[in-house]
Amino acid sequence: MKDILSELDERRAAARAGGGERRVASQHAKGKLTARERIDLLLDEDSFEEYDMFVRHRCTDFGMEAERPAGDGVVTGWGTVNGRQVYVFSQDFTVMGGSVSETHGAKICKIMDMAMQNGAPVIGINDSGGARIQEGVSSLAAYGEVFQRNIDASGVVPQISMIMGPCAGGAVYSPAMTDFIFMVKDSSYMFVTGPDVVKTVTNEQVTAEELGGATTHTKKSSVADAAFENDVEALAEVRRLIDFLPLNNREKPPVRPFFDSPDRVEPSLDTLVPENPNAPYDMRELILKTADEGDFYEIQKDFAGNIITGFIRLEGRTVGVVANQPMVLAGCLDIDSSRKAARFVRFCDAFEIPLLTFVDVPGFLPGTTQEYNGVIKHGAKLLYAYGEATVPKVTVITRKAYGGAYVVMSSKHLMGDVNYAWPTSEIAVMGAKGATEILYRSELNDPEKIAARAADYEDRFANPFVAAEKGFVDEVIMPQSTRKRVARAFAALRNKSTNKPWKKHDNIPL
Ligand code: HXC
Repeated sequence: MKDILSELDERRAAARAGGGERRVASQHAKGKLTARERIDLLLDEDSFEEYDMFVRHRCTDFGMEAERPAGDGVVTGWGTVNGRQVYVFSQDFTVMGGSVSETHGAKICKIMDMAMQNGAPVIGINDSGGARIQEGVSSLAAYGEVFQRNIDASGVVPQISMIMGPCAGGAVYSPAMTDFIFMVKDSSYMFVTGPDVVKTVTNEQVTAEELGGATTHTKKSSVADAAFENDVEALAEVRRLIDFLPLNNREKPPVRPFFDSPDRVEPSLDTLVPENPNAPYDMRELILKTADEGDFYEIQKDFAGNIITGFIRLEGRTVGVVANQPMVLAGCLDIDSSRKAARFVRFCDAFEIPLLTFVDVPGFLPGTTQEYNGVIKHGAKLLYAYGEATVPKVTVITRKAYGGAYVVMSSKHLMGDVNYAWPTSEIAVMGAKGATEILYRSELNDPEKIAARAADYEDRFANPFVAAEKGFVDEVIMPQSTRKRVARAFAALRNKSTNKPWKKHDNIPL
């Protein structure tokens, strides 16, 4: 009996050793943790239940039968994050570069199936040389099986991708279909074709970091949602994110203990909006002053700064925030900000996370760059996303709400449930200057007359009361009581239910 038990111990020890000391040392030398060290940091202590530790590949080509490491380059199983269940796979770069074989892929699929069945998020830690070259089409098939499960799991359980090493070729498409992608600066990259292929085909010379590093994907392409300094920080931040999310689409977001009165007033907000209507102010201040304990988890912070997206809690409950940022492009909507916010709104709606929208938007950004690149279709994404969202939607207009952008930003007309405006709001088709120049073109050479026209327009429209008279704004509120009013609005909407006509699925403008 003793021998039998010690054989298990030995086999486990061999599997845990991964690719051996030399390769582990090389992994550490690159500033990267091993697959198992990452799981240890991600999950609560002693909570990891591993599956398929003894799975080996079945390839017999290229002399592969001689090297059949237990686990086949990926560690899979489930555990808890602050007591809540999550499934995890963590690719082991020390074993054949974490490359994906038929059996490696099957291990990932198994835990994805379990996650969908049992209603828990999937966190994938990617560190891989891609398809295992020796297995040919079998490894491509394995990827295909994973892709299908990414699609099936979308909107059912949250899927989070941690990119902690190479992620190249078609392999990037599995993370691309997940809800959030996080990268590590200087040690992770994602691209469809690497620098060598780029050079051959387009003659461009570019480093791996420039082509698909964390900075590129958080600032330029928006493929990734955030980049962190190292593995430890990235794993700590994903734990924090999990705390905001429901485990699946049939569950409400978690309720956490809170130590911040929902009735807290913030007198400083009464002077947040500057006297000059064209002067910027920091919308982030309103978000922080509204949130429980000022805690805000921002998504895509480094991309499309003219819109802010992220999670806060109100009375301990998760709320998704979308807010125009007057400090960047005067808060205009454009292609990037529309795409960024639309995806966030759709995530929240899929997972029953109520939406809070802060509006200060002078309209869509004009120009040929925007039009040629399809701002019509991209802007429509945000419009569509808000209009299809059935979660509780509370909106606060702080200043400008002009034109189409007024309608887009969770207006009453797109089934906004509770729509508030600060007294500083201006809800109109456009600003006074633009409006008078169009309406009174023949008087343009008479500055006095035009100024009087503009003043008249401003008197009529540079306020929230025209919209409030029509019921498009439910109430004009004091800025200082925003947190209180918004918290009460969400409390009133906790049992919201809606019925929409049956359809197979929608056809959102892509
Ligand atoms: C098998 C692989 C491998 C792979 C790496 N290894 N990639 N084995 N299949 N795809 C092995 C290496 O032989 C080596 O084994 C070990 O992993 C570490 O690799 P190194 O090259 O020594 O590491 P490094 O210098 O850090 O370079 C990492 C790398 C490079 C940039 C990822 O290995 C690389 O370019 N690999 C090939 C990438 C690739 O073209 N993959 C196919 C992409 S197409 P030893 O025994 O020496 O430790 C794809 C299609 C997906 O993925 C399709 C989905 C539909």
